[in-house]
Amino acid sequence: MTVRYITTPIYYLNGEPHLGHVYTTIAGDVLARYWRLAGAEVKFLTGTDEHGQKVAQAAEVAGESPKEYTDKLSKLFLEMTKKIKASQDVFMRTTETRHHEAAQALWKKLEDAGQIYKSTYAGWYAVRDEAYYDEGEIVEGKAPTGAPVEWMEESSYFFRLSAWERPLLDYYEANPQAIAPVGRRNEVLSFIKGGLRDLSISRTKFTWGVPILSDPEHVMYVWIDALTNYITALGYSKVEGEAFQTFWPEVIHLMGKDILRFHAVYWPAFLMAAGLRPPKRIFAHGWWTHDGEKMSKSLGNVVDPFKLIDTFGLDSVRYFLMREIPFGQDGDYSDAAMIQRINSDLANDLGNLVQRVLSFIYKNAEAQIPHPDQLLGEDREMLAKAAHLHDILRDDMEAQALQVYCQHIWEVIGDANRYVDAQKPWSLKKSENPQDQIRMKTVLYVLTEVIRHVAIYIQPLMPDAASRILDQLNQEDRSFEALKIPLKSGVSLMEPQPIFPRVESDK
Ligand code: MSP
Repeated sequence: MTVRYITTPIYYLNGEPHLGHVYTTIAGDVLARYWRLAGAEVKFLTGTDEHGQKVAQAAEVAGESPKEYTDKLSKLFLEMTKKIKASQDVFMRTTETRHHEAAQALWKKLEDAGQIYKSTYAGWYAVRDEAYYDEGEIVEGKAPTGAPVEWMEESSYFFRLSAWERPLLDYYEANPQAIAPVGRRNEVLSFIKGGLRDLSISRTKFTWGVPILSDPEHVMYVWIDALTNYITALGYSKVEGEAFQTFWPEVIHLMGKDILRFHAVYWPAFLMAAGLRPPKRIFAHGWWTHDGEKMSKSLGNVVDPFKLIDTFGLDSVRYFLMREIPFGQDGDYSDAAMIQRINSDLANDLGNLVQRVLSFIYKNAEAQIPHPDQLLGEDREMLAKAAHLHDILRDDMEAQALQVYCQHIWEVIGDANRYVDAQKPWSLKKSENPQDQIRMKTVLYVLTEVIRHVAIYIQPLMPDAASRILDQLNQEDRSFEALKIPLKSGVSLMEPQPIFPRVESDK
């Protein structure tokens, strides 16, 4: 049985959901939906990161207690997942009791293994990044990320990260697929090779965190708390728990490139130190800019994902985000690029194919899936292209090559449009020759079968549009398995409705 555990980062509750959050969550959802349709056992996790100084400060600014504030904001993030139709199995909040218990259990494991000691931290800290920085990393008084830093001295527990330099390198050498894309992997390796220092993992300046049971003056550093959510969701610390046994370490952690280091250095080190296996796959995606500029509140150019969805529709937004840039690289959002994608890929290529074939059948072929007669070479070729998608798309998804997944489907859509133009079913219809009427039905059958394949494979990307096409085709079984059985003739079609209207550029 194929098993896939897919995670997004848990999002800080210091503001409303933005395009970055929506992007990773949709990518995770596409993977989760794909693997479910492929028959895998899937768990898809997302949620909110609710502790730490950054969230505590945001609550203070809002004039609310951290509890009130996080309860309110977490709801917004949960609503966001509904708005984008994310199909998570678990929505984790780090303020939940089960999570406190899991984080404390992991801490105890590390303590018992002699991986934690008490000392004093003296150094720089950036609340915005919730990260410690060495003197050497400070650039013109700021963190390398541009975040403001403050000098901090406090009593702190440390994790013996330095001891895990070699084991981490060994692990990544033996498992070259563990970090992707490959450029990011190299960055992580050179960071580790540069030398790892022990990591401060507790704070005493504030109380909004998971308490350390053996020393209640301390709360956990928010990153050790947050990373643990990935195993809380599997029922840790009850390691015998079925979910943990099934899903760990068969995980795909998705995240933006800015937080790769936490996932690819700290997290596997914590796990190995606690006697657990490191994650199988860590995938860092790129960042979106807007009209070529970095998005920021102060520039006022932040793309509001809710507005995008209200303007262009959810399916279009999901498709655009997956199709526009190679997953793993940076990319730019602009309304013009969005409109271009909708009009060319969705309205012209896919929408027209479906609309012209299905309306033609509806009007000229008894409104039911036609019976094919003898298949010619070009028919077989067309059908084979659709059938090959099965293996090709699986490889794409194994590699999290989400853009390539779209491209491969659209190649077949292009072939199908060329096939319609070459076979000209409308001319066959007008012919007096009864052979042409039979040929027309074969052509329409081939096209309907190709459309069924396409509709089934776009389900992870555009669940609503796919389901409307499959409704029109009157298909019940929508799993990939269903494609192993040839399309049945004689099934009545529903009256075709346009699926992807064109968008005018004044939107
Ligand atoms: N709470 C931590 C994650 C803990 S995971 C154990 C966190 N949260 S966050 O809300 O600040 O960031 C969430 C994600 O949004 C990150 O993966 C980040 O890369 C992503 N993005 C933020 N802005 C982005 C863009 N402009 N474009 C794409 N992704 C971006 O970090």
